Amino acid sequence: MSERQLIDRFGRRIHYVRLSVTDRCDFRCVYCMAEDMVFVPREQLLTLEEMSRIGRAFVHYGVSKIRLTGGEPLTRRNVLQLCEDLGQLEGLRDFTITTNGSQLPKYAAALKQAGITRINISLDTLKPDRFKILTRTGEIEQTLKGIDAALTQGFKRIKLNAVILKHRNHDEVIDLVEFARAKGCDISFIEEMPLGVIGEHDRAEAYYSSDEILRDLRTRFDLQPIAEQTGGPSKYYAFPDHTSRVGFISPHSHNFCGDCNRVRVTAEGRLLLCLGQEHSVDLRRVLRAYPLDDQPLYEALEKAMQIKPQGHEFNLQAKPVLFRHMNATGG
Ligand code: GTP
Ligand code: 5AD
Ligand code: SF4
Repeated sequence: MSERQLIDRFGRRIHYVRLSVTDRCDFRCVYCMAEDMVFVPREQLLTLEEMSRIGRAFVHYGVSKIRLTGGEPLTRRNVLQLCEDLGQLEGLRDFTITTNGSQLPKYAAALKQAGITRINISLDTLKPDRFKILTRTGEIEQTLKGIDAALTQGFKRIKLNAVILKHRNHDEVIDLVEFARAKGCDISFIEEMPLGVIGEHDRAEAYYSSDEILRDLRTRFDLQPIAEQTGGPSKYYAFPDHTSRVGFISPHSHNFCGDCNRVRVTAEGRLLLCLGQEHSVDLRRVLRAYPLDDQPLYEALEKAMQIKPQGHEFNLQAKPVLFRHMNATGG
């Protein structure tokens, strides 16, 4: 373990960094974005070299897990270069990506070659018409092809992510689990979080808790909790007869902030200390002021630990207080 560590005021050690490489996406999922989105002008984005430098600085501090996120990370031009750079960092044990799968037919093999160890792929429904409604612009065939392309590459694990909304896809949880089992993937069910104004549905009305999902699943499967973890927020359950695992990400019903081990960096280089709060540090300014000296960057990371908040305060009943959409955050 690195002797240099990032530890916050609550004694939590940061070993997981989520790097958002773009806020753009080829989908417009209804829980993530509004229909009309304004994206960050390209000149305000970090370059891939700057992202690589940030990744290196975190690994210098003992970070062992980096996840590339978006928007859709695979829509960023030359993203493979970043994967190759980060994939070579000694000390990085888990190098992962979260994607909507649409570009995986093209990129799965190259991602494996670059050193990506695991992939998480969003899949909220198995019904083509619903997929179109939930993603607004996506085609399910493309994502399904992407999942199959990833499966042929032999990644350590593939996890499907399903955001469950009452009356929109809550009736599919058993089918989604059957699908994950048939493919040999894990699956996590996610409670929707109130990031940004989305317009399309009332988040409080669409709330479907992890406990309700587990109850539904147990009408079909014998699921038992297990202690295994990935370093992410999922609490996992296993089957007696199958290696797939079922995870629950429950920011509302089972808060996990006490064990938080992560921070995220937006595509503009804003270090966000919590998904559900605005506390942040402008790393882009530091990178550009000191292009050849990493010391100020290290100091910025250490200082940032002093403002990492204790946790989020999501409230589905209240008006949104976070105007940042999920795509600008990387989840
Ligand atoms: P694993 O490494 O496979 O455990 O991945 P992960 O679950 O950490 O990452 P993924 O990108 O698949 O994210 C799944 C969901 O977890 C997304 O909806 C994220 O927004 C959510 N998530 C990840 N970290 C946090 C967090 O710190 N707080 C909250 N509230 N949600 C988080
Ligand atoms: N609440 C919960 N999860 C969300 N995601 C996107 N927006 C939201 C939201 N508002 C999920 C995506 C993807 C992951 C990165 O975050 O479905 O799986
Ligand atoms: Fe794109 Fe992911 Fe947001 Fe859907 S959830 S619009 S796939 S960034």
